[in-house]
Amino acid sequence: MITVLNHPLITHKLTQMRRVETGTKSFRQNLDEVAGLMAYEITRDLKLDPVTINTPVMEYETAELTREIVLVPILRAGLGMVDGILSLIPTAKVGHVGVYRDEETLQPHEYFAKFPENLDEAEVLVLDPMLATGGSADAAIEIVKKHGAKSIKLVCLVGAPEGVELIKKQHPDVDIFLAALDEKLDEKGYIVPGLGDAGDRIFGTK
Ligand code: PRP
Ligand code: URA
Repeated sequence: MITVLNHPLITHKLTQMRRVETGTKSFRQNLDEVAGLMAYEITRDLKLDPVTINTPVMEYETAELTREIVLVPILRAGLGMVDGILSLIPTAKVGHVGVYRDEETLQPHEYFAKFPENLDEAEVLVLDPMLATGGSADAAIEIVKKHGAKSIKLVCLVGAPEGVELIKKQHPDVDIFLAALDEKLDEKGYIVPGLGDAGDRIFGTK
């Protein structure tokens, strides 16, 4: 399943991120805010368990989240989405997957993986602003699956049709959430119109 989150605030903030003149501070801040807004929608279908509690007034039958939530940012750019989501889900744990794509071959390379325990029982949100060829997300999802994850959502800001198709083919069990589905990839594998290199824009490395 793919969901493109159409919301005026998300579109507005993403527009600021796409502008070539937007600097690191504003790019980061908008990414943080968009990720927080996306978290609200992404978690809409999370399972709840019934629970009986005592309010100061009476005993009350209500519900609470069944599963622990684990955020897994794909390093580096996925890190830019963590704080925004944590502001809504402060109890979430955070694992990390290091994957970069070779600029010539566009092939993903894994260089780091560290997760909290009991990934198999958690709701895992894999985070990356960009879903281009889909190679990095595919590799990251493989890694979290190898570590036991069973319930996985992929959360990206901007996706290209090529990346969406790859994930649908390789991981039909993974729901994909995007803030925007763009037109295509260019000859260098950049998303068009896109927003450029997300990692470089977040960390000011170019
Ligand atoms: C970017 C981006 C994704 C990947 C998307 O990361 O953050 O992880 O490219 O491209 P793909 O879908 O074709 O794999 P990059 O490899 O530039 O690493 P960085 O985050 O360290 O800059
Ligand atoms: N990675 C990015 O950061 N941007 C793109 O457009 C494609 C891959």
